[in-house]
Amino acid sequence: MEASLSIEEGVGEILIGEPELQARIAELGVEISRDYSGRDLLLVGVLKGAVFFMADLMRELTVPCEIDFMAISSYGAGTDSSGVVRILKDLDINISDRHVLVVEDIIDSGLTLSYLMRSLRARKPATVEICALLTKPERREVDVPVAYVGFEIPNRFVIGYGLDFDERYRNLPYVAVLHPDLIPPH
Ligand code: IMP
Ligand code: MG
Repeated sequence: MEASLSIEEGVGEILIGEPELQARIAELGVEISRDYSGRDLLLVGVLKGAVFFMADLMRELTVPCEIDFMAISSYGAGTDSSGVVRILKDLDINISDRHVLVVEDIIDSGLTLSYLMRSLRARKPATVEICALLTKPERREVDVPVAYVGFEIPNRFVIGYGLDFDERYRNLPYVAVLHPDLIPPH
């Protein structure tokens, strides 16, 4: 049995349980290790949500890998779709000629990653790809090429396994829908 918080605590229906998450991450690990065989990999995590996924994913990799992190600001109060995102913390590592895999928790409109990819490509990495645990295809505003996807989910606000609502719920080991009594930010 999975530990799960009660509805009173804001957690709605569990969309992806812990065993399902971990099984899919193991599959992604096999796939990525195969694709990058013979190459050194640099995982770039987008703070803060990707930390949990990245920690589990990298333990499934059999290729030599390093990690670094970036923090970016959201582009406003949910209505501004200019796609302008501010870098709050940049990479420590120079990525020129490196094989970079950006690890993200969820792709919603795609604006954040689209901006991030432009910034990373300008630094002339050997390759740069995206691995996202979750994607909401219905919400996409800009096209971002995603090489690895854990799960496609419907257009609902989700929490857990790194995903937050007002900075809470990141520690849940599963992905759940935010209870409808709490007003979602979009
Ligand atoms: P995008 O630029 O619209 O693709 O925004 C992606 C970011 O919005 C993610 O990195 C999350 O931080 C946040 N986000 C989008 N959907 C959700 C959700 O359902 N739950 C929690 N955070 C979300
Ligand atoms: Mg995020």
